[in-house]
Amino acid sequence: MASRFQRAAIGLALVTAARLANAAQPCEPADLGCSIFSGQHAIPAHLRDDDRPLPAWTTRCINCHTRTEPAAAFAPSLTPAYLLGATSRRGGPPSRYNAVAFCRALKDGADPAGVVLRKSMPHYQISDIECAALWRFVTNH
Ligand code: HEC
Repeated sequence: MASRFQRAAIGLALVTAARLANAAQPCEPADLGCSIFSGQHAIPAHLRDDDRPLPAWTTRCINCHTRTEPAAAFAPSLTPAYLLGATSRRGGPPSRYNAVAFCRALKDGADPAGVVLRKSMPHYQISDIECAALWRFVTNH
């Protein structure tokens, strides 16, 4: 049976492989949503209750989220099925994202049912145009 250390090492290797696979898909220059998700286009952000700006390299969506199942352990995968489906999130009533709820989650850190997100999800100063592009990218619309 694999030791805890071995399991942790295998997990880390898998996460690294997934990151490399993601990094191997560069964005089309005109794809603003993709550029934001992968960090080529930085959006200013800070943590809840802390106004200090986070360094840009820490705020790329792709650092914490994938766009495919299965989810990384740290943060939900941002798939169309997860965002658009009626799902109970963090113990709240079933809710779905739309473009408005998605932008609210990014700016104010609350999900469509109004449940506050964990502090590790940054708050972004994102424009309506940037947010709409990101929404189209994560929902494939
Ligand atoms: C430092 C890590 C981190 C970064 C960077 C990050 N997130 Fe998150 N995000 C999280 C975590 C952790 C959660 C889950 C919070 C919870 O369940 O309370 C989350 C939750 C979310 C949710 C809510 C999903 C749900 O379950 O309702 C959305 C939408 C989201 N993130 C989008 C983004 C986008 C888009 C970006 C980039 C602009 C981004 N996140 C960047 C960590 C991060």
